[in-house]
Amino acid sequence: MVQLSEPFKWTLLLCTCSLSLAGPVQVPNLTLPPTAAGNQTAVKNIFNQSYAAYSKFAFGHDSLLPVSASFIDDRNGWGATIVDAMGTMILMGFDDLFIKSLEWVTNVDFTESKTAANVDLFETTIRYVGGMLSAYELTGKKYPILVQQSQTLVDKMAFAWSSPNQTIPYGMINFQDNSTINQTNVAEAGTLNLEWSRLSLYTGNQTYTNLSMKNSIHILLFVQLMKFFSCRCLIPQEIDPSDNKFVDAFITWGGGTDSYLEYLIKYARISNTEGKLLNNDTIVNIGLEIADSCWNTYASTETGIGPETFQFIDNVLEFFNVPVEQESFYGEARFLDYWSVYVQLQTLTLSNTFPSYIIGSDYIQRPEVLESNFYAWRATGDTKYLDRAASAVKVSKILGLNDVNNIAAGLQDVTESFWFAETLKVLSLPNFDEPGNISLDNYVFNTEGQVFKAPPAKAVYGSGNIAVPAGTFTSKTVTGPVPAISPGPLLSFAPGPQLGV
Ligand SMILES: *[C@@H]1O[C@H](CO)[C@@H](O)[C@H](O)[C@H]1NC(C)=O
Ligand SMILES: *[C@@H]1O[C@H](CO)[C@@H](O)[C@H](O)[C@H]1NC(C)=O
Ligand SMILES: *[C@@H]1O[C@H](CO)[C@@H](O)[C@H](O)[C@H]1NC(C)=O
Ligand SMILES: *[C@@H]1O[C@H](CO)[C@@H](O)[C@H](O)[C@H]1NC(C)=O
Ligand SMILES: *[C@@H]1O[C@H](CO)[C@@H](O)[C@H](O)[C@H]1NC(C)=O
Ligand SMILES: *[C@@H]1O[C@H](CO)[C@@H](O)[C@H](O)[C@H]1NC(C)=O
Ligand SMILES: *[C@@H]1O[C@H](CO)[C@@H](O)[C@H](O)[C@H]1NC(C)=O
Ligand SMILES: *[C@@H]1O[C@H](CO)[C@@H](O)[C@H](O)[C@H]1NC(C)=O
Ligand SMILES: *[C@@H]1O[C@H](CO)[C@@H](O)[C@H](O)[C@H]1NC(C)=O
Ligand SMILES: *[C@@H]1O[C@H](CO)[C@@H](O)[C@H](O)[C@H]1NC(C)=O
Repeated sequence: MVQLSEPFKWTLLLCTCSLSLAGPVQVPNLTLPPTAAGNQTAVKNIFNQSYAAYSKFAFGHDSLLPVSASFIDDRNGWGATIVDAMGTMILMGFDDLFIKSLEWVTNVDFTESKTAANVDLFETTIRYVGGMLSAYELTGKKYPILVQQSQTLVDKMAFAWSSPNQTIPYGMINFQDNSTINQTNVAEAGTLNLEWSRLSLYTGNQTYTNLSMKNSIHILLFVQLMKFFSCRCLIPQEIDPSDNKFVDAFITWGGGTDSYLEYLIKYARISNTEGKLLNNDTIVNIGLEIADSCWNTYASTETGIGPETFQFIDNVLEFFNVPVEQESFYGEARFLDYWSVYVQLQTLTLSNTFPSYIIGSDYIQRPEVLESNFYAWRATGDTKYLDRAASAVKVSKILGLNDVNNIAAGLQDVTESFWFAETLKVLSLPNFDEPGNISLDNYVFNTEGQVFKAPPAKAVYGSGNIAVPAGTFTSKTVTGPVPAISPGPLLSFAPGPQLGV
């Protein structure tokens, strides 16, 4: 368990950060092959068809239940799909759908949840606030109602900081009495600053940026503290807003932590502040290898769609955990290749064909693999990524699957708003738009696929200094279950400042 001897003063943290030169994200002067136009039309048709089903069976509600031909209100009943999908409508040129959405958004009362549920600070920020502010930008700032509605919503969500001194916001707010629910994690707390700083920009109220930054910085300083002890480790996932302490040692870069790490880079870029953009090809190449690995999960299944979760075999013991029923299929598909496992374990080399096996075989229309593919295309100009996107377009199902290796296992009965906001947007952008349009050198995507315009990049990032707030840093150990999300091993550390590996 993480247990630091206390108190550690922030003043330990004075350090000099190196400077780094900024470089372009995209390959310059990338052009599209003639096959792009046909794929563009195909993705637009998928969007149009899916959204028509939403309009018919679920309009005004949060999510479509496509199998039941019904709906659910799982995002407070404000019409999450409409709000989240607006940016994609604008980029795909579905102007009539956007105008109808705008009318809807204009009439939503964001001060009251339309369901009995509490309001989720993170989900509401990335889908609703992100959706409205991105649409505001993409339509040339013509519709100020999108900013006004965002502000109404964020003013209520600001109750997540229930006292003026609180650094870390609570993850849930009860909109009836403005009370909070005692829990959060670093992704929920640290994935607000892109959206909230945009709101400050358009309203002139700096409070939104300040609130969303103070917790991000608090978490970031943990990393600096670990560096001080020469520890190369990630942050713990759980954090208690009531006392700012990290809780336990569940460490991951998966869900619950992921988008905090993502926003460290993205916020630095969109605000041109003192974050450090690495401009490091070694790291880009690791990213490209991971994109290849993830693509293999799509390429190896019977449907051509990848599973929700899979696991790499990275040690001999893991090798024996592979479920028997997967041995034969993945032996053939080379998803799991025993000979290659054996050779690689002997020689301790990793490659992008390093075997993996499925843990969760469903497909809920998530964007991540296709999104990586989009970044890889724009960063390298290698047309293999376009071919992959084209192959995904070809097999893309309008509905999610219960089992990517067995179509007979049936269809998922919920279409999350990210299918419209993110999956179809990233799938279409590599194909249908000139790479200079929504260029990754000029735009930043939030963690829901909402795009925001970035200022021209600076020549150099990093000031050589980091801010040093006053206070103490501590963590604590609690008993209890590890989070249900981010399945993975619980790492245990011996107590004391030797923490880490
Ligand atoms: C990209 O195109 C611009 C304008 O056509 C040209 O000035 C520039 O030299 C090109 N850059 C590269 C790397 O080819
Ligand atoms: C999509 O692009 C691929 C090449 O990447 C091409 O083979 C295919 O014909 C295109 N699809 C359509 C519908 O035009
Ligand atoms: C979208 O679908 C509707 C039917 O729901 C159809 O009338 C319309 O022509 C389609 N638009 C495009 C651009 O394909
Ligand atoms: C860029 O995207 C917009 C919105 O979809 C579209 O109207 C425009 O034609 C695109 N420009 C290019 C050069 O592709
Ligand atoms: C800025 O927003 C905060 C948070 O909602 C609010 O408390 C404050 O009154 C606002 N300031 C101004 C000047 O409107
Ligand atoms: C809040 O911060 C102020 C100024 O740092 C301090 O005086 C006060 O005691 C703090 N209040 C609480 C409840 O921690
Ligand atoms: C909750 O906040 C709203 C808006 O700021 C306010 O009008 C209302 O009185 C508050 N409710 C309670 C129970 O404090
Ligand atoms: C926001 O933070 C800055 C820097 O700490 C401070 O100067 C400013 O007064 C703060 N603004 C608000 C409205 O809290
Ligand atoms: C929040 O939960 C933690 C751990 O479960 C507990 O130690 C803390 O006292 C709680 N805080 C509040 C304000 O309820
Ligand atoms: C790039 O990143 C790698 C891996 O972290 C590191 O070893 C290398 O020193 C970095 N290169 C530069 C120029 O910073």
